[in-house]
Amino acid sequence: MIVYFAPMEGITDGVFRRVHHRLFGGIDVYGLPFHKLTQSLSLTTREKRDIDPEENRGLTVLPQALTRDPGQLVSWLEYVRACGYSRADLNLGCPSPTVTRRGRGSGMLRDLPALRAFFDRVFAGPLPVPLSVKTRIGYESPEEWPEILALLADYPFAHVTVHVRTMREQYTGGIHPEAFDLALARGLPHPVYNGDLRTPEDVQSLIARCPGTETVMIGRGLLADPALARRIRGGPAAGEEELRAWYTALYEGWRDRFHATLALGRIKKLMVWPVGDDLRKKRLLRRAEDIDGCIDAVLGKGEAHGPR
Ligand SMILES: Cc1cc2nc3c(=O)[nH]c(=O)nc-3n(C[C@H](O)[C@H](O)[C@H](O)COP(=O)(O)O)c2cc1C
Repeated sequence: MIVYFAPMEGITDGVFRRVHHRLFGGIDVYGLPFHKLTQSLSLTTREKRDIDPEENRGLTVLPQALTRDPGQLVSWLEYVRACGYSRADLNLGCPSPTVTRRGRGSGMLRDLPALRAFFDRVFAGPLPVPLSVKTRIGYESPEEWPEILALLADYPFAHVTVHVRTMREQYTGGIHPEAFDLALARGLPHPVYNGDLRTPEDVQSLIARCPGTETVMIGRGLLADPALARRIRGGPAAGEEELRAWYTALYEGWRDRFHATLALGRIKKLMVWPVGDDLRKKRLLRRAEDIDGCIDAVLGKGEAHGPR
């Protein structure tokens, strides 16, 4: 089983990826959160740092772009190659209204003739590096998927990651694993399954259902349990000391890069996932005023540190 760590803007930055790789491993490819391409092709400082080879030393990463402009995409692919990477991804999945309103991300699925014209231009000549896409299965309805699939099958993508939800379903609507069955049945090259894999048992059920599954991409499941990829490979669950080391290293990495307050904010944003629906942990996390308090909250240890 090949495991991709899903790109998650605002969370899975270079600090996160390196600490995760060092402490847990088990990931074949880390997706980089998207670069929002512009007319001038000037990336933000954060985007430039994220793709910097130094930032990704020792990791296999997949840079990603968000654009509806074929020229911008091809120029960016040149840049990706110049940075020393040998593959790149296009985002057809982002459901954020600010993105889809401009016809980008999953907004590109709303107009399939325009999407076809886009890919005709992208693939008009040889590409600087092989291109993959990460897509949803429709804009309004899963019934759109067969047509989207037929379109994608017409282009030589390195792989296609399928988040088995529509744009409308955002991140919490029901999933449609049957859409992945269809991708396998139609012979889409190298389909990657994405959506709601939280446990090794979820992955086993997926394989039982879709025996051709070779690659999965996991996001929130890995935020909740950083040892999930290791467990999928038959390794042990994360122990308490390991989790302490994980959160402490992340906090220190972010504190050194940003600022203590910002680092604590990021840690709390991440810890939303391991805490889940546990009301007591949520309360402790909200009140925590330092990293130890946050860790105690997540591990369910007594009251949070720090003054109330
Ligand atoms: C906070 C957040 C940020 C995300 N950022 C990106 C992104 O930059 N690029 C992308 O393709 N998907 C992004 N996604 C979607 C995830 O990569 C993934 O497709 C989605 O969470 C479903 O997988 P999961 O159920 O395993 O989490 C983001 C999701 C979340 C929750």
